[in-house]
Order: sequence, then C-alpha cells, then structure tokens
Amino acid sequence: MKLTPDQQAMLDGEKGWPLQIAMQMLTAVGAALDAPDMIPVTSTHLVIDGTALGEAGRDFLERLVEEGGRFAVPASINAIAVDRTKADMTAEEHDQIRMLEACEKMGALPSCSCNPFIQGILPTFGEHVAWSESATAPFVNSVLGARTNREGATAVASALTGLAPRCGMHLDENRRGEILLKVETEISGVDRFSLLGALAGRLAGDRIPVLDGISTPPGIDEYVAFGAAFAIHGASAMFHIAGITPEAPDADTAFGGLAPAEEFIIDEAAIAAEHAATANGTAGPVDVVSIGCPHASLDQLRDAAALLADGRASGDVTFYIHTNRSTWDAADAEGIIDALTGAGVSVTADNCAVVSYDRVPSGTRLATNSAKMALFARSVSDAEILFGTTADCIAAGITGHWSGRQK
Ligand code: F3S
Repeated sequence: MKLTPDQQAMLDGEKGWPLQIAMQMLTAVGAALDAPDMIPVTSTHLVIDGTALGEAGRDFLERLVEEGGRFAVPASINAIAVDRTKADMTAEEHDQIRMLEACEKMGALPSCSCNPFIQGILPTFGEHVAWSESATAPFVNSVLGARTNREGATAVASALTGLAPRCGMHLDENRRGEILLKVETEISGVDRFSLLGALAGRLAGDRIPVLDGISTPPGIDEYVAFGAAFAIHGASAMFHIAGITPEAPDADTAFGGLAPAEEFIIDEAAIAAEHAATANGTAGPVDVVSIGCPHASLDQLRDAAALLADGRASGDVTFYIHTNRSTWDAADAEGIIDALTGAGVSVTADNCAVVSYDRVPSGTRLATNSAKMALFARSVSDAEILFGTTADCIAAGITGHWSGRQK
C-alpha cells in the first residue's frame, strides 16, 4: 500500500506502539483487499462485547491506554454485556466495565448501543467512516449514504489513526446493486421489515440487493429492524430501496445501468415462509419476552407503555425491553420507565437478552418481534422462538401464553 510519510512513521513505530499496532492491522487488511492506500475516516463505532473479547480484549485495550493511545476521531461504543449501573458485578462484568473505561480514556463516547442512530449518532451522506457491528453498516451505507465496510477489530485501529483502507464500500464501483428483489406484498411494522431483512440478507449473500416495490418509506425503527436482520442473515454491507434510499432514485440508477445478476420475487408466501423458518416454537407458555433488538427507540418505549396501560406482565414471564442509557433516561423523564417497570417490564440499558453475561438459559421459550434476536437466541441460547408483532409479544407477556401468529 502507498502510505504517506506520516502513516509510514506510524507503521515504523516512531509514534508509539498504539499507532504502530493500529497501522499493522490496517495495512494487513488493506493488502489482503488490494487497497491502494488509506482514506481518512470521520468517525468509528466499536464492538467491545466482553463475552466475545474476554480477558485478551481487556488486556489489549488497557495496554493501548497505558502506552498513550488516544482516538483521533469520534468513537461510539456498541452494546456491552452488562448494565453499567448494575450493583454487585461479577469478575467478568468488571472486566467489561474496564474495557469500556479504557475506551472512554482514549476518547470514546460511552453510547453502549447497537442502535446509535436513535442517539443522534448519524454520519452524513458521503462521509467515510469505520463502523463495526454488522447491523450498523447497512444502515450507514444504505439509509444515510455514508460509507463504511463491515469493520471488526479494525474499527479500533481506525479510531486510533483516523484511517481505513480504501476498499470495499468506500469505492463508488462497489456500491452498485447486484440482484433485484421485487417486493410484491405490503410491508410495514418492525416485525415484517425484520422478516423481509432476513430474507433479503439470505438471498443477497455478499451481494447488494435492490428492493423494488416498497412504496412507503420505512421509518427509522423499521429501517433499523430491516438492517439488523439483513446483516445477520447475509454478508452484504448495503442494500438499496428503489425510489427511497439516497443512492437509488430508481432501480436503474441503483444498478448503475447494468442488468441485475439475478432476480427474486418476494410475495406474501415468501414472507410467511420466512416467518415459519424464524419461529421454531409452538403455541403454549412463554418464558421470556424480548423487545428492543436493536435497542428500542423512545417511540417504541412509548408504544409499549401504551399497550401495557391496562395490563401487567405475567409473574411467569421475564419481560425485557432493551434500550440504551440515553434513551432510558429520556423515557424516564417522561414517566415511561416507571409505567413499564410498574407493569412488570424490565427495561434493560446497555445490553440485551443475549449480549450479556447473564443470557437467557438454554431452551427458553422466547417471544420476540426481531429476526436478529430470534437467530441470536437460537444460536447462543438454543432458545425456542415465538415470533410476532410488538402487540403479539406484549400480549404474550401479559397472559404468559403465546397466541400470536405462530405457524
Ligand atoms: Fe442489539 Fe442485542 Fe439485538 S446487542 S442488535 S439487542 S442481539
């Protein structure tokens, strides 16, 4: 890769170990992906989930601090594995807090959310950024028109240097649509956008799909639900919605004038089949309700409180709504947290039912409106999934029984 003298000095260790290790990471990735040089980035989003990084991650981040590492660009933090306000933490949970504190010492914003968009962290059109967490990249690229690859540990290296290899989604030619998904059924609500995202992600694989036929622009909660499911079921970092997303004023433009490599029709039968594949549970008792994957917005918390206004969670159900601390605080100021906790709901901040040291136990019957939570809970907790609308999930939380649209 062609490096500037300043970048070469970082790589040679003349500017300290943190910048040297960061440049080693970035040049290794850049060389593997044939990047000609580095591109400046304006922000980063970091995954420091302690259940994944463990003691090695803690030691690495703390060594960066000890050796003088400081972030060169704004860095937000993804969901972590424990609520920061929890009393009596375990040793592992303390380690997670140490990782967060290390990042804060280097200049990170402790946003602790897989949905930083609802906290107002929104890169603008054309900005080059380096964002980790698979679900954020499709939103950044597709909805905002900013540019990021699906970063991993390299996001920390980009935070330290303010650089990323010039490759992948940073380049115009890699942002064109590749396959066409003709949507021939009405899609609205987070549950149906989540199912559509899961299906689109799987059909796309590592290709960029153009969805044609969505007439009503999704709201931010629907986009986030779609993007999270899209990312977990596929490897692509971008989608287009013809006539709606910023780089797709129409399908032809999204394809850059080229023909799609493949076409699929998504009709009601395809959505129903996706629902059936997502939900492996049968009607009956519910152990856990999990709403807020990705983290719930203030509107979603308000809606949940309204749906629970005349009800109360069954004593047999652990009823979670997951959000981040700043949204929790805003909801608290409106009295929504009191209303929800008074109705027996646990409104978690910073973490969720599976990104946690305290995951739902194996075999849990878990009701959710999120295809991402469904896949995660099945994978990491061998959960039995009951999938439906937010209202279905809340009804199940109140009655302790699943009677939603379970197939
Ligand atoms: Fe967020 Fe947990 Fe879902 S971290 S995206 S709520 S699995």
